[in-house]
Amino acid sequence: MEKFLGKKKISILISGRGSNLKSLIKYSKTKNSLIKIVLVISNNSKAKGLKVASKSKVKSKYIKYLNKSNFENRSLKLLKKHKTDLVCLAGFMKILSKNFIKKLSKPIINIHPSLLPKYKGLNTHKRAIENRDKFSGATVHIVNDKLDSGKIILQKKIKILKSDTEKSLERKILKIEHKIYPLAIIKLLTNH
Ligand code: GRF
Repeated sequence: MEKFLGKKKISILISGRGSNLKSLIKYSKTKNSLIKIVLVISNNSKAKGLKVASKSKVKSKYIKYLNKSNFENRSLKLLKKHKTDLVCLAGFMKILSKNFIKKLSKPIINIHPSLLPKYKGLNTHKRAIENRDKFSGATVHIVNDKLDSGKIILQKKIKILKSDTEKSLERKILKIEHKIYPLAIIKLLTNH
């Protein structure tokens, strides 16, 4: 009998380290997980996340980023071939086009290290500290064709301490990311 019967097929797009990928793989391997990871795509051949995938025997593919439409067309083919139900971006550093989102016609979600809509884009922790914010956090949201802008699925807030640096905040928020990404997927898949 097919072991993963009933599980949603997830593909994950990465560009780098892959610590969120690791947390999603960990969740996918828990007894009652709702997902099976069918494919990891990286636009960066040197991404550590590719090693994370191969260590866990998750299928991965490097697609060279020649240009947006070439990358997206090749990705689309693979995502469809693997019957992907949901795409998760995990440290994927490119913006997907409207056309890609439409053609895929499956939900795409992303994790971002700030309390969106605050601090879209890069250097979120630096900006939060420089602005003397009292809180920061992480957000999982639906992807649209504008940077870090789609509907929020789940957000978790933490206090920024006076003693926090960019690095310490990054470390704390990354831990939160690893917790909320699986939770956000569960929330999305179960409509809760
Ligand atoms: C994370 O902070 C994520 O929120 C952001 O990029 C970073 C990726 O880290 N989008 P990793 O590759 O998952 O370790």
